[in-house]
Amino acid sequence: MAEISAHTAAPKGPRPPLRIALAGLGTVGAGVIRLVETNAALIARRAGRAIVVTAVCARDRHKDRGIDLSPYGWEDDMTALAARDDVDVVVELVGGADGPALTLARNAIAHNKALVTANKAMIAHHGLTLAAWAEAAGVPMRFEAAVAGGIPVIKGLREGAAANAIERLYGILNGTCNFILSTMEDTGRDFADVLAEAQAKGYAEADPSFDIEGTDAAHKLSILSAIAFGTRIDFASVDTSGISRILAADIAQADSLGYVIRLIGMAEVDERGSGGKPGLFQRVQPHLVPFDHPLAHVDGATNAVVAEGNFSGRLLFQGAGAGDGPTASAVVADIIDIARGYDAGFEADATFSIPVADLTDMAPAPRGHRLGRAYIRFIVADRPGVLAEITAAMRDAGVSIESLIQKGRAEEAGEVLVAMVTHEGPESAVSEALRLLEGSASLAAPPLVMQILGN
Ligand code: NAP
Ligand code: HSE
Repeated sequence: MAEISAHTAAPKGPRPPLRIALAGLGTVGAGVIRLVETNAALIARRAGRAIVVTAVCARDRHKDRGIDLSPYGWEDDMTALAARDDVDVVVELVGGADGPALTLARNAIAHNKALVTANKAMIAHHGLTLAAWAEAAGVPMRFEAAVAGGIPVIKGLREGAAANAIERLYGILNGTCNFILSTMEDTGRDFADVLAEAQAKGYAEADPSFDIEGTDAAHKLSILSAIAFGTRIDFASVDTSGISRILAADIAQADSLGYVIRLIGMAEVDERGSGGKPGLFQRVQPHLVPFDHPLAHVDGATNAVVAEGNFSGRLLFQGAGAGDGPTASAVVADIIDIARGYDAGFEADATFSIPVADLTDMAPAPRGHRLGRAYIRFIVADRPGVLAEITAAMRDAGVSIESLIQKGRAEEAGEVLVAMVTHEGPESAVSEALRLLEGSASLAAPPLVMQILGN
């Protein structure tokens, strides 16, 4: 008994509420207010203290957001939130890599406030600098909602998988693209029509080209790479292509071959690298995913991330990747961690799982020697000799063809779609074949290449 009492901590008094300021009251910001109000009692029990919103900011004070803002202080200039004495945590839910969001983030850290953000663009571009300041100041900076919406994948990698060397990481990282692809696949609806629905549901970025051109997924992949591989964020080196060139005919063609099309982000350390040193391979590209692969069944705005740990084996994180509720859930989880004090001391020094100063600089790995199978789609003139020209380029580049299908396109008189699946071979061979075909009068549009996801 005496031994036990010697280790018993003195009873603690009630802890003061954690006071937060919210910048941005759009899809995510309004979702955070609703969550904090709806689950206030539960959150207070789990966090050991109440979490209260003290001040908010958006562009238009009078917009109807379906929430009562009268209990909260209002700032017209969001940077003023960081200077308020009644704020412990600044929550940035505005968006944009630079501009007011970045100014607010800097000000928050400068005023020794904890920073929580859902802004993957800002973290991908400025996360290292912000984290270095936050670590030096000893304030936590958290961004769970920046990657894969409501899925606790950053927490999963930083904490649950912390003992593992991650060998490969890949998955579906953009809810808008997944919603578009899977809805087109299920309903045959038009791309623009489904994108408009994704925007109406609050999934898309303010500028949806960030979604459909793959930039948003690349932001997220570069953040995950830093956490998984202990490398400095290198967004510029992500080999990125989006879904805007995918035709309904590609989806139908993939289906007839036994695949669905999904935008996949993939990262791994390539031991062959360049110059004798390991390199970091990062790519966002639409892939053909075999029907029997777990990612083939990820539909709608759902995201899924696979991380392969050297002791854990394959971990699959799956859940809603966009939208107000799931994203608010991730934002508030970060706030609860701060309220609990998890980020005090050492944790605040390891924003990307390792302190920023200890992250390694890894050169981008060249992709040419990667082996894989590819789907290549051509739109070509419907005349004799065109198929022979394409197959000759493949032969000359050393690409082995597994199947070749030619389909007329009723809507484009005089043009046909040629879809090809290659046997496994180096990606450099496919690039060389396409180089040989460059400028050919037979091609009505640049070819579209999608890798086929292996198991
Ligand atoms: P949103 O609906 O467009 O909301 C943006 C909010 O920021 C609006 O309330 C807007 O004010 C406010 N705002 C913009 N510029 C401002 C300025 N200069 N001063 C003050 N307020 C300003 O965006 P969202 O979808 O909530 O996304 C917010 C952030 O979360 C972004 O970084 C996004 O990438 C990220 N995110 C979004 C999702 C999602 O599913 N939507 C998921 C994960 C992460 P008004 O309302 O008055 O115009
Ligand atoms: N626009 C993003 C998406 C929001 O569609 O995935 C979630 O980050």
